Amino acid sequence: MTTPRPLVAGNWKMNGLVAALDELGALDAGLKASDPAPVCDVMICPPATLLAQAARRVKGPGSSILIGAQNCHREVSGAYTGDVSAEMLAEAGARAVIVGHSERRDKATYAETDEQVMEKAQACWRGGLSAIICIGETESQRRGGEALAVVSGQLLGSLPEGAKAENTVIAYEPVWAIGSGLTPTVDDVAEVHDLIRKLLVERMGNAGKRVRILYGGSVKPANARELMGVSNVNGALVGGASLKAADFLGIIAAYA
Ligand code: 13P
Repeated sequence: MTTPRPLVAGNWKMNGLVAALDELGALDAGLKASDPAPVCDVMICPPATLLAQAARRVKGPGSSILIGAQNCHREVSGAYTGDVSAEMLAEAGARAVIVGHSERRDKATYAETDEQVMEKAQACWRGGLSAIICIGETESQRRGGEALAVVSGQLLGSLPEGAKAENTVIAYEPVWAIGSGLTPTVDDVAEVHDLIRKLLVERMGNAGKRVRILYGGSVKPANARELMGVSNVNGALVGGASLKAADFLGIIAAYA
């Protein structure tokens, strides 16, 4: 089976003023100094306000950091106060957009549906960007034995037809593992990632083997190597530990 090149992506969420770009600089310097270089792609998804500056910051010779965004609107433009389109994010320097993060699917906040997430993924492709489609069960769903059904439903409901390995990344983030310090067992991660792979291959044929499936939820330098070694885990989507270059480099080191 073709193993996809791993991706370690940092989601800064609503964190970071201009001064935070110093961490991006430190990350860039750390990656350039890594010998051997890690065998993975590295992405940082800062808040939209920092995108353009972040993209300029990593443009220099030898820099390999990709910049991504955290959300987009489904339309190209229009009367959608406060929203940002994929085309705008692409122009600012983004290469990918996180769509359907659990913090946006959460019924108590933005309550995004699978259908909306699918529309956003299509908008990403229209704008020439990759879509990082997030899926994952809540704690009560896991306790109720529904994790696999929830993940399957979200994947099939949010992944548009026509997905390609080049423009699609899936991120499995169990909601209860996000920001909690808790992680599933490696067996539980393998069970979900193997299922996602199977569904991708059923939907996309052989191309489904090359789609990267990231694990997210309390990934830290101390557990990265173990989690990244799990079957069908092709990288990580990292929240808190992506805010400090030293921590993020410690995670990337899993691929050194
Ligand atoms: P933490 O790494 O802080 O648990 O967050 C994970 C996440 O939500 C990344 O999108």
